[in-house]
Amino acid sequence: MFQDISGEFKLNIWHQVFPWYHEKYMKWRYPSLGDMKKNRASIKAAVEKELERRLESDTDEDDLLQYIIKTHSMKNTASSVESLTTYIQIMFFVGVLTTVGSTIALIQVVANDPSLIKQLLEEQEKAIDDEIEAQQLQNDDMDRNAFLVKNAAHIYRRLAKLDSLLREGFRQTKVETDQMEEFKPFRFVDRQAPSTKVGSDFLLFGMGKHACPGRWFAIHQMKGVITCLIRNYEITALKSGGIELTKRCPGNVKLDIV
Ligand code: HEM
Repeated sequence: MFQDISGEFKLNIWHQVFPWYHEKYMKWRYPSLGDMKKNRASIKAAVEKELERRLESDTDEDDLLQYIIKTHSMKNTASSVESLTTYIQIMFFVGVLTTVGSTIALIQVVANDPSLIKQLLEEQEKAIDDEIEAQQLQNDDMDRNAFLVKNAAHIYRRLAKLDSLLREGFRQTKVETDQMEEFKPFRFVDRQAPSTKVGSDFLLFGMGKHACPGRWFAIHQMKGVITCLIRNYEITALKSGGIELTKRCPGNVKLDIV
């Protein structure tokens, strides 16, 4: 769906010059484009079935869909199905498309720089060691992968280089003058500038009162994907622009970083 719709979503200069034109386009034209209609129809069909099932079985599931159904006292009507479909689409755009897009961009960056992967892996191993030590556990026969999964939040907090890479990857240029044109992945290590801190030099999540409230979650997810990917796969950038992944770590041993 995202791929279809992103291809259809082409904004030109007039959208910026005339906000009223953009507003009308988004309200009327965009929803009527072919791919948008097709994808909305398949979400709607699924939503319709699920709404009916939930209302009939009087279920009390603990998820987002149920929250919306309950909060708006939805009945099995055409307008409820329409609204629920719109909610789901918005949630996909806001919470999934953004995160997936940003993560893919970062994977491209690391895939093109094997030395970056090596440094991130070293950091990862050290973070696991440090967390094991902080919890006063025995390191010897530890299942390090399981430990990483279980203590992800604590371990990610120790990944200053990965956090810096995230900020550097999406920062704005031309704000500071010193070498800001240059890509320096670990520029923000020890600079008290985490990747969740918004500002005029870092607008990935917007700023001000409507700055993204999902950014902590999004960053956590992105760190998770990058961490697992570099830990478990050899990543090679192909000449075609694609990326090749080869499974690399069969066991739960400490990684031998070459
Ligand atoms: C890398 C991933 C993400 C990026 C790049 C991103 C980016 C943004 C940006 C730029 C805004 C501000 C829009 C404005 O200025 O009006 C925003 C708002 C918002 N984001 Fe995110 N976002 C991401 C992930 C998420 C996730 C995972 C969630 C929810 C779980 C989320 C929920 C929201 C919501 C609800 C708003 C509206 C806030 C408001 O209007 O007050 N975002 N996001």
